[in-house]
Amino acid sequence: MKILIACYSRTGFTEKLAERIVQELTSRGHTVKRDRIDVVVRKSRWNLLFRQIHQYPLVGLAIINSSFYQWWINNYYQPEDKIHSCEYPDVSGFDHVCIGGPKWCYTSYPIARYLKQIKGLDHQPVSAFATFGGPPLKMFELEFIFRPMNRQIQKAGGRLVSMLGLSSNFHELPLIWIFRLVSWLFFRCSLKSFTTDSDYGKRKLKAFCDQIEQGNCLD
Ligand SMILES: Cc1cc2nc3c(=O)[nH]c(=O)nc-3n(C[C@H](O)[C@H](O)[C@H](O)COP(=O)(O)O)c2cc1C
Repeated sequence: MKILIACYSRTGFTEKLAERIVQELTSRGHTVKRDRIDVVVRKSRWNLLFRQIHQYPLVGLAIINSSFYQWWINNYYQPEDKIHSCEYPDVSGFDHVCIGGPKWCYTSYPIARYLKQIKGLDHQPVSAFATFGGPPLKMFELEFIFRPMNRQIQKAGGRLVSMLGLSSNFHELPLIWIFRLVSWLFFRCSLKSFTTDSDYGKRKLKAFCDQIEQGNCLD
């Protein structure tokens, strides 16, 4: 298959995961091309935070109230950031497109913009990957990134076939100690056990690539 891996990474962790996906898919005989999504203006971490911090109380409410969660995940305010033009603005020539970026509460702002600008995604099989600071908590981490991404991918015409979310064990804001504690409390193991280089990460990466090859829609 001819596969495009499009990725935005601010501090390098999702980029590292993208490279591992490239290696795995190339070793399976696929032709893989890269698109590195980049922002026009690199904002400070505080700027990124303040643009969505007003929503955080509602994120907390969504976690404890499932009917509000269903509404919120479809209606929250998604910030976007201007990006440079991509190497492959039209992806119709690919058999599969993988799109990845960091979790910034939900979809990162440059990826949200990319998914609005991308052309040629109609009926295309798409895979989504992400890194986040915390452990792979089902609702707070995995669903909060992949449900919005799935919706944005579908809006662009694509259909999601695979998802991969791993911890970077890193947070630019001084919050990582909370995630380390949560990892011990919920999973009884360290955050390192969920990173790209962990056994968990390697296993999930293989499963992600298997699903790409099978191409079955997740919905
Ligand atoms: C504005 C902002 C919001 C973030 N939100 C979350 C979050 O909700 N959950 C989480 O675990 N990590 C969060 N992070 C941490 C990043 O997802 C994490 O460090 C990621 O691995 C960075 O990827 P990158 O190196 O590819 O940029 C956030 C980081 C920023 C800057």
